[in-house]
Amino acid sequence: MVRTYIHDNNNSEDFRSSHDSGVEVTLAQLQKLGVLYYHLTNPKDVETLAQERGYKNQDVVNISLETFQNDESALLNKLNVFYEEHLHDDEEIRYIEEGEGYFDIRDAMANEWIRCYVEHGDLLIVPAGVYHRFTLSHTNFIIARRLFKDEPKWEAHNKSEQVDDSITHRQYLKSIQKI
Ligand code: LAC
Ligand code: NI
Repeated sequence: MVRTYIHDNNNSEDFRSSHDSGVEVTLAQLQKLGVLYYHLTNPKDVETLAQERGYKNQDVVNISLETFQNDESALLNKLNVFYEEHLHDDEEIRYIEEGEGYFDIRDAMANEWIRCYVEHGDLLIVPAGVYHRFTLSHTNFIIARRLFKDEPKWEAHNKSEQVDDSITHRQYLKSIQKI
């Protein structure tokens, strides 16, 4: 089951550690930021949600040491990419089938990172325009289903002044009444 809390911002510690500041965040707080969470144990419910939201494609990604032929530095290179603060022009839906990981959501109101621990059965919807990042835990293993509206391609816009000013980000801020 998902656990959500403020990230401790201790950057001297591996980003795969829990980084739990001890300050809890409720799902209602996440919802105010437009981030939705569901716990779905029946895969059929994932299909229903995909249909309701008009998602036509999906794939399953398996990220583990084995995926990278047991080359930990190759795995870390990938995780470093996922851990860059970024946003997308479309919402991001991830359903965790096995393993575990952390999604960090930038709270644009408080300018803090909200860390969401996700594991089997957890489904997270991150709206377009929300800055976020992702990492595995120290178990180095996750299997996640990714839902796509159209083609299974995924473009990340890393944080920059230009992306801060983008229509996608500004529309998001408007939607949560930040501007
Ligand atoms: C993604 C995650 C890493 O964009 O945020 O797939
Ligand atoms: Ni993303």
